[in-house]
Amino acid sequence: MEPTCTGLSQMQVLMSLVTSLINAQTPSDLRSPSKIHDGDRYDFVIVGGGSAGCVLANRLSEVPQWSVLLLEAGGEEPFEADVPGFFTYSWGTRMDWSYEGVPGVICGGLPCPIVRGKGLGGSSSINAMLYFRGNKLDYDHWAQMGNEGWDFEHVLPYFKKSEHNLDPDVRKDTEYHGVDGYLSVGRFTFQGETVGRLTEAFKEIGYTEVDSNGKHQSGFMIAQMTQRNSLRQSTNRAFLEPILKRRPNLKIVTNVRVTKILINESNMAYGVQYILEKNRHVGGKIFASREVIVSAGVVNSPQLLMLSGIGPKEVLQPLSIPVMKDLKVGENLQDHASTPGVFFTRPKHEKPQFSGTSILMDILNYAEPKRHGPLTSTELNQVVAYTNTKYSNSSIDYPDAMIFFLDLAAKTQSETDKVVFLPTVLRPKSRGKITINTTDPFSSPLIHQNYFSEPDDIKIHIDIFNVAKQLAETYAMKNTGYVLNTTFLPTENDFKTGKNPLWRHPEFLSQFSIFHLCGTCKMGPDDDETAVVDPSLRVRGIGKLRVVDASIMPYIVSGNINAPTIMVAEKGADLIKRYWGRAHDEIERA
Ligand SMILES: Cc1cc2nc3c(=O)[nH]c(=O)nc-3n(C[C@H](O)[C@H](O)[C@H](O)COP(=O)(O)OP(=O)(O)OC[C@H]3O[C@@H](n4cnc5c(N)ncnc54)[C@H](O)[C@@H]3O)c2cc1C
Ligand SMILES: *[C@@H]1O[C@H](CO)[C@@H](O)[C@H](O)[C@H]1NC(C)=O
Ligand SMILES: *[C@@H]1O[C@H](CO)[C@@H](O)[C@H](O)[C@H]1NC(C)=O
Ligand SMILES: *[C@@H]1O[C@H](CO)[C@@H](O)[C@H](O)[C@H]1NC(C)=O
Ligand SMILES: *[C@@H]1O[C@H](CO)[C@@H](O)[C@H](O)[C@H]1NC(C)=O
Repeated sequence: MEPTCTGLSQMQVLMSLVTSLINAQTPSDLRSPSKIHDGDRYDFVIVGGGSAGCVLANRLSEVPQWSVLLLEAGGEEPFEADVPGFFTYSWGTRMDWSYEGVPGVICGGLPCPIVRGKGLGGSSSINAMLYFRGNKLDYDHWAQMGNEGWDFEHVLPYFKKSEHNLDPDVRKDTEYHGVDGYLSVGRFTFQGETVGRLTEAFKEIGYTEVDSNGKHQSGFMIAQMTQRNSLRQSTNRAFLEPILKRRPNLKIVTNVRVTKILINESNMAYGVQYILEKNRHVGGKIFASREVIVSAGVVNSPQLLMLSGIGPKEVLQPLSIPVMKDLKVGENLQDHASTPGVFFTRPKHEKPQFSGTSILMDILNYAEPKRHGPLTSTELNQVVAYTNTKYSNSSIDYPDAMIFFLDLAAKTQSETDKVVFLPTVLRPKSRGKITINTTDPFSSPLIHQNYFSEPDDIKIHIDIFNVAKQLAETYAMKNTGYVLNTTFLPTENDFKTGKNPLWRHPEFLSQFSIFHLCGTCKMGPDDDETAVVDPSLRVRGIGKLRVVDASIMPYIVSGNINAPTIMVAEKGADLIKRYWGRAHDEIERA
């Protein structure tokens, strides 16, 4: 999936062409971030304009009396990011923090690439756009642990609040879906032939086609995506762009790195320290009268807390960082891991989802007013299944595995197209951690992924491949010429030793993570020693400071985590409003 160097530059030329075809507006027409000044004061300072930060900036600035500042380390969201078909091409560019994991057994002992969005929209600008909420029982579990108000019944209204569902068959279910939120959600208009083939095959092996975000999660569905009119809906496009001109109380500033949270002797946060990304000699302080909200994502939120003296004292003391509060910041790292070695070879007569062979035709098809063809979708096949392995309790609707497919077009004449079978254990037991070994805010935190360190995760993972074998035997797949290749089928031993050749395969390397990292600023009740924030997302022991992003998840949810992160921000904004006595504000709508 990593583009080659020549591929990238060709793509960049094409992308700028597409950009001009899509839209005549330039980012500066939409937004002109004014400079901030040392000593400025706002009611709220939000650190990070990603999935969560953009939602918070919108919701908090609904209160006209509040001044809100959103500080983002990256830049504007470029128009290329809007094109679903270009999704992987932003990886490794200025839109990506391009982190790497600390080498371990996975990735053949080499550092695994970890893609993280940088710029307005954050990871929602470079993700695969799948809209899933996880399972109801995930949230009930959060609540059972003492996180009052986070059970499914209480979070569902926040999923619906964001949502503008576009597909008639889904949106009619108003118990589960919203139709007037900021975030548009709907299926891609274009589906490659393999989507139909997999749909038939899943039906043949007894799976029901469901709305996995509705009453029942188990089964399969053609996924809904965060998109509108075949354009990506990052949280920047969805939550910020519509309000820019009507919220004079909201200021957004890009290319500014927050390097420290300012905390006074009474353990109250009162502002942030910042440095300009493009001129690191320039920086200053911004004061927050009401709160500082950290939404810097699962890697940078714990880094920023630790740099500010909030974290494990074993980490802070050796670096001579004064300990403001000893908390388990950076621990509890969870993710969905996958292995890409098992694939179907696609018969020649079936067209791939994403064909790079006639890219010019694809671009012309994509351009307004047509908006069709492969560029309207990502190379991720749109069929997603939630299933029970033999280790889970299939009498309840709480699947322990997810399956998705990557459609790869052959690059050379001798190669064949591939449909890669990607299995994922939904609730892994393995835990990694994020830590720092320097006080330099510009150096990377250390990311210990630690995937498959628990034997149960390996067992479940391997069991999921039985579904691939079942699919291979269906009339739908077999009789149309799809052949399953299990040469690289991993064994338990491969996981323990890292010896399987696929673990070194550069094309597949990054697929060990499907980039749902979360949990590093765990939410929990006061008696939970491992909790970093309380159920109101306030950092324990530090006043006027919250963390609101994917890092607060105590347990990873059973699905993709962008929509859940947006839900966390919607609920977080409401908690903040209630705390400051603004619960019944008339909400200004764009
Ligand atoms: C490649 C990829 C594919 C994915 N696919 C899907 C998918 O299909 N569906 C799905 O549901 N989920 C997907 N995810 C996961 C999902 O997108 C993320 O979990 C989610 O966007 C995280 O939101 P966040 O608000 O926690 O962090 P982010 O969106 O990452 O936002 C953090 C923001 O803070 C900024 N920042 C960091 N440090 C600082 C600082 N010191 N000062 C100022 N700003 C700072 C960052 O630049 C960034 O903009 C994917 C993720 C990736 C990376
Ligand atoms: C710290 O900040 C809080 C809130 O702004 C304030 O009430 C308190 O007096 C401050 N304490 C010190 C020691 O400055
Ligand atoms: C499976 O779930 C059902 C319903 O909650 C429960 O009654 C049963 O005991 C569970 N079975 C196992 C093996 O845990
Ligand atoms: C921190 O760890 C990284 C990765 O192991 C290493 O390259 C770097 O030298 C370390 N830095 C310090 C200051 O120890
Ligand atoms: C399976 O794929 C591998 C790697 O691409 C290839 O070497 C092998 O020949 C394939 N096996 C079959 C039966 O096609």
